[in-house]
Amino acid sequence: MGNNLLIINHPLIKRDLTYLRDKNTPSSLFRSILKRLTSLMAFEVTKDLATTTKEVETPLEVTEGHELKDEIVLVPILRAGLGMVDAFLEILPEARVGHIGLYRDEETLKPVDYYFKFPKNLDKSVVIILDPMLATGGSVCAAVSYLKERGAKKIKVVSLIAAPEGINKLTNEHPDVQIYIAVLDRQLNQKGFILPGLGDAGDRIFGTEN
Ligand code: PRP
Repeated sequence: MGNNLLIINHPLIKRDLTYLRDKNTPSSLFRSILKRLTSLMAFEVTKDLATTTKEVETPLEVTEGHELKDEIVLVPILRAGLGMVDAFLEILPEARVGHIGLYRDEETLKPVDYYFKFPKNLDKSVVIILDPMLATGGSVCAAVSYLKERGAKKIKVVSLIAAPEGINKLTNEHPDVQIYIAVLDRQLNQKGFILPGLGDAGDRIFGTEN
């Protein structure tokens, strides 16, 4: 696996992943733990953001401060990516949010798009794509291609659980994209579900399993 994959290894992330994997975790708890786990990842994902200096006046004197150099655009892939937005907005309240609606056709496993809405100036922004699951990689690759067509140059992908097949596809098709995950799982099953995985994240967040 290439240099552009970072598996964020942290005891609190491992603990929270275990709650998310557990089939007995109800939607209410699943949502709050997904948010907490995303917060733990967000600190690492934002570690290399560039800053510029600016003066700040403390109550005592003027000193050097810092501000973020680039604008940030968060892009959740609907639906499951929505469960990761609030955690990022808490540490990046100035970020703007674009949305990509994609679902995976259950037969072909290919992504089908149904919604796009983005802020301007993607070319001058750091774009952070959010989706808890990276299975075949079809959805995230389609999202990255779409964003590049609209000018995005600096793109990060944040996912919780990935399958090797999806990581290979993403690193081959978009070697310039930095990928952050919490765990690399074993494999996909015939239906394209990640094993051991956590099931369908969208369904578990929104309670639409049945
Ligand atoms: C899931 C998941 C990803 C995609 C991953 O969404 O949230 O977007 O599948 O699969 P891939 O890597 O093989 O493309 P799903 O299609 O179930 O849509 P949903 O979020 O609306 O439930």
